[in-house]
Amino acid sequence: MTGKAGSGNDLTTLKEALKWATAQLTESCERPQFEAELLLAHHLGRERIYLMMHSDDPVEDFAGFEALVQRRAAHEPYEYIVGEASFYDIYLKVAPGVLIPRPETELLIDEAAKMIAREHITSIAEIGVGSGAISVVLARQFPNLKIIATDICDAPLRIAGENVEKFGLHEQVTLRKSNLLDEVNENVELVVSNPPYIAEDFMLEKNVADYEPKEALFGGRVGDELLRQIILDVKARGVKWLACEMGYDQKEPIQAFINEVGVKSVRFYKDLAGFDRGFVIEFM
Ligand SMILES: C[S@@+](CC[C@H](N)C(=O)[O-])C[C@H]1O[C@@H](n2cnc3c(N)ncnc32)[C@H](O)[C@@H]1O
Repeated sequence: MTGKAGSGNDLTTLKEALKWATAQLTESCERPQFEAELLLAHHLGRERIYLMMHSDDPVEDFAGFEALVQRRAAHEPYEYIVGEASFYDIYLKVAPGVLIPRPETELLIDEAAKMIAREHITSIAEIGVGSGAISVVLARQFPNLKIIATDICDAPLRIAGENVEKFGLHEQVTLRKSNLLDEVNENVELVVSNPPYIAEDFMLEKNVADYEPKEALFGGRVGDELLRQIILDVKARGVKWLACEMGYDQKEPIQAFINEVGVKSVRFYKDLAGFDRGFVIEFM
C-alpha cells in the first residue's frame, strides 16, 4: 500500500481513492479507471456522476473500498463483486457458482423469441438455467409463456430462483434440479439451451478459469458432447423445436452430427462479428 490512499485513512478523498484504485487495477482490467469508478460508485451506493461532482469529499469506509479493489485486482469478475450483471434489458443477481450471462446469449434469446412469436408457442423448457438469464427475459417478453428450467447444480437454481422472484415470474417459470430433461415429463414445444460447450483443455482467461463454475463451461473432452446429447434427447421426446448456443468453431461437427441424426431443417446463426454462435432445429 502506498501514500495516503490505502492506509486505511478515512480522510482519503474520492479523487485520491480513484487514482489509487486505477493503479491497482492496471494489470487485471482493460479499463482500470472505468472499473475503479464503477467500484467506488458501488461502494458509495451512488451513480458514477456523483464521483465527478464530489471529488474532494472523503471516502467513507475506505477499507471497505480497498477490499473490493483487491478482489478485482486478483481478477475476480466485477459482476461477482457487486452481485449483479447487466443482461438484455435487466440487471440479474449473480454469485460465485453461477455463470455470468454473456452478451452473445442475447442472440439466442432473440432466435427463440422469433420462433415463440411466429409459432404461437406457450410451453418451453430451458436446459442449464444458470442465473435465469434466458428464462427470465423470455418470460418477461411473453406473459403467457410457461417455462420449465433445469440445472444440474444447486447454486444456479438458487440464484435463478432469486431472479424469478425479483421479476415476479414464479407463475411462469418452474425451476427443477435435473440432468438435461430427465426430470421433465411435461410436453413442451421448444427447448432452448446455452449448455457448457468448451473443450476440457481450452485455456480460458484467468478471471473465467479461476472464478466461474466448471460445470457451466466445459462440455466434455471435445466440448460439444452435451450439445449432441441435447439434440438426441430433444428428438427422442418428440419436441418440435430446439434452439442452442454453441462455440464459434462447432458448426461443422454439429452440422455433420445433425445430418446423421436426421432433422426437418436446421439454421445456424452468427453473432455481430460474423462468428457462428448457435442453431435452431426443426425436427420431423
Ligand atoms: C453456460 S451455463 C448457461 C447459464 C445460463 N443459461 C446463461 O445462458 O447465462 C450452463 C448451465 O448448464 C448447467 N448444466 C451443466 N450440465 C448440465 C446438465 N447435464 N443438465 C442440466 N444443466 C446442466 C450448468 O450448471 C450451468 O448453469
